[in-house]
Amino acid sequence: MSSIIHCRGLNYRYEDGSQQNQIINNLNLEVQAQESIAILGQSGCGKSTLLNLLGGIDRPSSGQVIINNTDLSTLNETQITQLRADNLGFVYQFHHLLKDFSAINNVMMPLLIQGIDKKSAQQAATKMLTSIGLEHRYNHLPSELSGGERQRVAIARALITQPKCLLADEPTGNLDRQNADEVLNLMIKLNQTHNSALVIVTHDERIAEKMQRVLVLENGQFS
Ligand SMILES: Nc1ncnc2c1ncn2[C@@H]1O[C@H](COP(=O)(O)OP(=O)(O)O)[C@@H](O)[C@H]1O
Ligand SMILES: [Mg+2]
Repeated sequence: MSSIIHCRGLNYRYEDGSQQNQIINNLNLEVQAQESIAILGQSGCGKSTLLNLLGGIDRPSSGQVIINNTDLSTLNETQITQLRADNLGFVYQFHHLLKDFSAINNVMMPLLIQGIDKKSAQQAATKMLTSIGLEHRYNHLPSELSGGERQRVAIARALITQPKCLLADEPTGNLDRQNADEVLNLMIKLNQTHNSALVIVTHDERIAEKMQRVLVLENGQFS
């Protein structure tokens, strides 16, 4: 198996007045193709920071992040953005859908940004929304969808480019139990059918139970 994300000796620290805070401390992680990982840890322990480092959104203080065999430190910001768009999908606690755009237009957006023509993008988005049971919601605005539906649209948008890895930061943190289960089951199903790896940051033990690997972040390292 090949690794999609690989980090070695990762450190992230910031200065707070005279104090140095080490959030991530010499951390190593390899995310293999198609595997599912839960990253657990107490609030404020650095889970979001770690996910942003793995996704090339933030830069580490030191250490290496390698995405699909490319070391981020060898790239400029434009190249990192491109590498991220080609390989990764992101889902957050809040859906971040564009509020004036319908579900289908939100899902199409990453393809249009990639330069794919509108008709093909529309077809792909239709197929994706149908596959997740939202065929009756194509033309609804985010404000016309339930919380769970919005999060499912956000997942569809993250996966429309067929990323090799989906990075999710507390994706069910804002949902009630039933919607949380639906969203989680959807991510697991897509992880299996699209052969994409799945890294979920969460403090929900029930999510962790369904992942192949569970890592607990504590004092900047996996305990
Ligand atoms: N650049 C920064 N400046 C100040 N505080 C930061 C900075 N980066 C991270 N932090 C702090 O680091 C800690 C970890 O944050 P975060 O990664 O969001 O934790 P989690 O997602 O596990 O709740 C928090 O206490 C946060 O306030
Ligand atoms: Mg967080």
